[in-house]
Amino acid sequence: MPIPETTAPASDARPILFFDSGMGGLSVLAPTARLLPQAPLVYVADSAGFPYGTRSEAEIAARVPALLGRLAERFAPRLIVIACNTASTIALQHVRAALDIPIVGTVPAIKPAALLSRTRVIGVLGTEATVRQPYVDDLAARFAGDCRVLRHGSAELVALAEASLGGVAPDPGRLAAVLDGLLGQEGGERLDVVVNACTHFPLLEAELAAAAPRALTFVDGGAGIARRIAHLTTGQVWPAVRPAGRAVFTALDARTATLAPALARYGLASVESL
Ligand code: DGL
Repeated sequence: MPIPETTAPASDARPILFFDSGMGGLSVLAPTARLLPQAPLVYVADSAGFPYGTRSEAEIAARVPALLGRLAERFAPRLIVIACNTASTIALQHVRAALDIPIVGTVPAIKPAALLSRTRVIGVLGTEATVRQPYVDDLAARFAGDCRVLRHGSAELVALAEASLGGVAPDPGRLAAVLDGLLGQEGGERLDVVVNACTHFPLLEAELAAAAPRALTFVDGGAGIARRIAHLTTGQVWPAVRPAGRAVFTALDARTATLAPALARYGLASVESL
């Protein structure tokens, strides 16, 4: 009996689309790219709307779902990752209600931080918009009820992370001052775990650890989100070889031009505007 020929399943080129205001979402893209080596990747930075952390809830709740609707039409992704804590804690529900594809959000990793903390004092370092969200109150109440949860919002750290991708090393004194926003609060002397609750901040994790006055553990959601994406795409067909990744900006300018070499290091070979 001849062995029947098996037909290989058709390749499915639909990408996973990562969305952030700027470059922070690369800290979510990187562990996903490692876990899913064939997945086509599109990275979108809303450079025209950056930064989100100093915007109002109303602005973000109006802007993000509309933009993601355009992006879903343009790139036909199999899944969208809102790789931004600010956008996720404010607009995740609106986006899920508006779009008919799986949406994975990025919210502060308070649960893993509470599991790790020995002193029961943890810090949430995010944008000013994120740290004031009821979503964060809810995570703290559900997963860190027996911890003191200190919060600090820093727009400066977002800017330092963007600059470091453009090749400008952050000043350790400024990083120490940002950390002091948490450590200097009442109870901060016992804090042992810092949640990097803005996707920009893991990009400076080594520098933050080096600038800290004592050993601190930093946690973020990147690896957990990668596992979640792998789970949600289980059984899906991927191209045999990952196509070159695409970086998309909502506005190209002199600043975005400096980021091309860093984007290439993340496998995002082409840079285009929306
Ligand atoms: N990366 C974003 C976050 O995770 C926000 C940075 C900003 O635009 O302020 O919150």
